[in-house]
Amino acid sequence: MSQTHQKPLSIRPRRLRRTETMRRLVREYTLRVEDLIYPLFVMEGEGQTQEVPSMPGYYRYTLDLLLDEIKEAYGLGIGAIALFPLIYSEMKDNTGNESYNPEGLIPRAIRAIKTVIPEIILISDVALDPYSSEGHDGIVRDGIILNDETVAVLTKQALVQAAAGADLVAPSDMMDGRVGAIRQALDAEGWINVGIIAYSAKYASAYYGPFRDALDSAPKFGDKKTYQMDAGNSREAIKEVDLDIAEGADIIMIKPALAYLDIIYQIRQHTNLTIAAYNVSGEYAAIKAAARQGWIDEKRVILESLTSMKRAGADLILTYFAKEVALMLSNP
Ligand code: PBG
Repeated sequence: MSQTHQKPLSIRPRRLRRTETMRRLVREYTLRVEDLIYPLFVMEGEGQTQEVPSMPGYYRYTLDLLLDEIKEAYGLGIGAIALFPLIYSEMKDNTGNESYNPEGLIPRAIRAIKTVIPEIILISDVALDPYSSEGHDGIVRDGIILNDETVAVLTKQALVQAAAGADLVAPSDMMDGRVGAIRQALDAEGWINVGIIAYSAKYASAYYGPFRDALDSAPKFGDKKTYQMDAGNSREAIKEVDLDIAEGADIIMIKPALAYLDIIYQIRQHTNLTIAAYNVSGEYAAIKAAARQGWIDEKRVILESLTSMKRAGADLILTYFAKEVALMLSNP
């Protein structure tokens, strides 16, 4: 209907916001189920799930039940998963020997998943913390996290995961030089098509607390500030990304996501590589907690948060909300 009593005004941005169809037409960024990577916690045993206390509605699965969960997620259009193990404390030691046991939980899980759903993109985490008696991402000597000794173990871990069938290995440890060492080792063993998704800019964040509950992997002493990045830095993120690109990373990751959208944006301006953002456990817990109190609209806050990551420049999003979002996208 024409509104003749209105003043002439040539530019009216509201014209393009009039209806949902119009808004959809001019929308710049949209979440797609294809963008999502579903992180999953696997544990030993059979027929069991355990809710992670600080991640309401999120579970660890024994391998048999994990396979059902993955089939369901794949059916909803989720094409990629990231696997993390809960390791019995008796199996942990300072050097993370269990991390490269070819019969360990993760290689067994990779083989089983790839047998049931060969098409799914399987990302396996490379780091020592789930296997470390010290709860650190590296080998500890005299209270120091050793770099090069740790890289040697990470390389073995990546090779075992590649042999089991991982599509992408994901070093999340923040040791110097690990991407290059892993790339060289993969190539030397003939795994030329196994890619590296590098946690390039990983901050020493308080948002990882619930994840450490899930894997019983909290540091036994100190913190991770001698290897993970300082929240006050952004140029350093670009330095880390440049190093990982030079060392052969296929995809780079920024983590956490919400408190680091400026970093995602800067890296987007800096590289043409695929960028992944990790919407971490504490971000999940915060939204769940507020929603359970009835203080925020959970679905809308999830979609708005993940959309901000795409707008900042992320191509892919690792998120504990992956399945919920896949459901929302399929029944809007
Ligand atoms: C450790 C690792 C962490 C996460 C992924 N890999 C925690 C840490 O660095 O202590 C955190 C993920 C999350 O909080 O969701 N290699």
